[in-house]
Amino acid sequence: MNITIFGSGYVGLVTGACLAEVGNEVLCVDIDAEKIALLQEGRIPIFEPGLADLVADNLRAGRLDFTTDVARGVAHGLFQFIAVGTPPDEDGSADLQYVLDVARSIGQQMSDYRIIVNKSTVPVGTADKVSAVVHDELARRSKSVEFDVVSNPEFLKEGAAVDDFMKPDRIIIGTDNPRTTELLRALYTPFNRSRERVTAMDIRSAELTKYAANAMLATKISFMNELANLADRLGADIEQVRIGIGFDPRIGYHFIYPGCGYGGSCFPKDVKALERTARDIGYDAELLRAVENVNNRQKNLLFEKITRHFDGALQDRVFALWGLAFKPNTDDMRDAPSRALLEALLAAGAQVQAYDPEALDEARRIYGKQAALRLCESPDTALKGADVLVVLTEWNEFRSPDFQRLKTTLKQPVIFDGRNIYNPGLLQEAGFDYYAVGRGKSLHP
Ligand SMILES: NC(=O)c1ccc[n+]([C@@H]2O[C@H](COP(=O)([O-])OP(=O)(O)OC[C@H]3O[C@@H](n4cnc5c(N)ncnc54)[C@H](O)[C@@H]3O)[C@@H](O)[C@H]2O)c1
Repeated sequence: MNITIFGSGYVGLVTGACLAEVGNEVLCVDIDAEKIALLQEGRIPIFEPGLADLVADNLRAGRLDFTTDVARGVAHGLFQFIAVGTPPDEDGSADLQYVLDVARSIGQQMSDYRIIVNKSTVPVGTADKVSAVVHDELARRSKSVEFDVVSNPEFLKEGAAVDDFMKPDRIIIGTDNPRTTELLRALYTPFNRSRERVTAMDIRSAELTKYAANAMLATKISFMNELANLADRLGADIEQVRIGIGFDPRIGYHFIYPGCGYGGSCFPKDVKALERTARDIGYDAELLRAVENVNNRQKNLLFEKITRHFDGALQDRVFALWGLAFKPNTDDMRDAPSRALLEALLAAGAQVQAYDPEALDEARRIYGKQAALRLCESPDTALKGADVLVVLTEWNEFRSPDFQRLKTTLKQPVIFDGRNIYNPGLLQEAGFDYYAVGRGKSLHP
């Protein structure tokens, strides 16, 4: 099938590459000319495991192409996927300008039947807005062309995006036209082999499903963080509690890790946007507000622990930071907890030596050159001359360091662990002061 994808970011690029991999003719359109030039050379601007090879292979095979030419994009695909960003507006609502820009372009250019498939995460009612914009543009040109708008939210996880797309746990198709459902079902057949994963529903429910999923996951994290803060004050160990509650199959072990807060391009903005949607219709979404507040507080937790440890004297102290990405296996730093800590340390006059296996370029792009921030090419370089170590992302390479060497390199044998990846007993034995999240009074609340 011929497919056009607007937006070549984490979602658009993965969608395009995977749909090309199974034999479709995919054209990806983006307004970022630099990005498109890079992609045309078979290079990708983000780190996502497996994606670079997939893009290069399909480009070479002639099934995948990239352009900034909107008219070419609209002419190419029966399916017009929208996978552009929906960042938070000032009031927390999802900013729909990019989605509606694409809708406008489609309406301005289309001359045959098109299925407009919205993959961006958008508030309930957006499909109606997309329809209205396309209708307006057609009316302006005095054209009558049929089209359908479908909500097909994306559930991929950064860091495992290619796998998630190739073997999705669900494919949600929100449409009011059964013929469109069948066409999309056909499109997704290669990803739907072992068992039926397609769930067709009405458009509004599909739009809400995406927010519901992310809000539920964010709620799990904030719940565990709330409990971790209680455990800290009560002299309990949240890691024991986590194991204790996970036995219950109604709770389970997935996604109940306490830590220094959730980040990334989805949870923070989606919880906010859903809360904003609720407010706009006169409903006070108390739980969602609490989820967000707990997370904001949690992102400040390590800074509070650090400030307390140093009695507020942070000026000119040197902090080694391991991990900048919001989670392992990505270079994405959008709303990452590392940013809250890094910025608080710099504002307090401290110096930061940060290392991340994949996000250094992204950090360079965000923070530019700053005398107090050194981006280091290895974990060891970040430690040299540092007072203490702070761990912010649970990359595998941080999980089992040589603690004896660490102890002799750091000026003080102190570790702040925002991801609870170390064994407190072992670290105490090795002579470290170990600050974790929710691991009990004996270990520095
Ligand atoms: N990143 C994720 O893990 C993830 C997962 C599921 C859903 N989503 C949702 O998918 C959407 C896209 O997220 P992302 O992380 O891929 O965003 P992104 O910021 O990585 O990429 C968006 C791309 O869209 C391009 N763009 C903007 N306006 C355009 C236009 N008019 N025409 C063509 N291209 C245009 C931008 O230049 C950019 O390259 C968001 O709504 C997000 O919430 C993201």
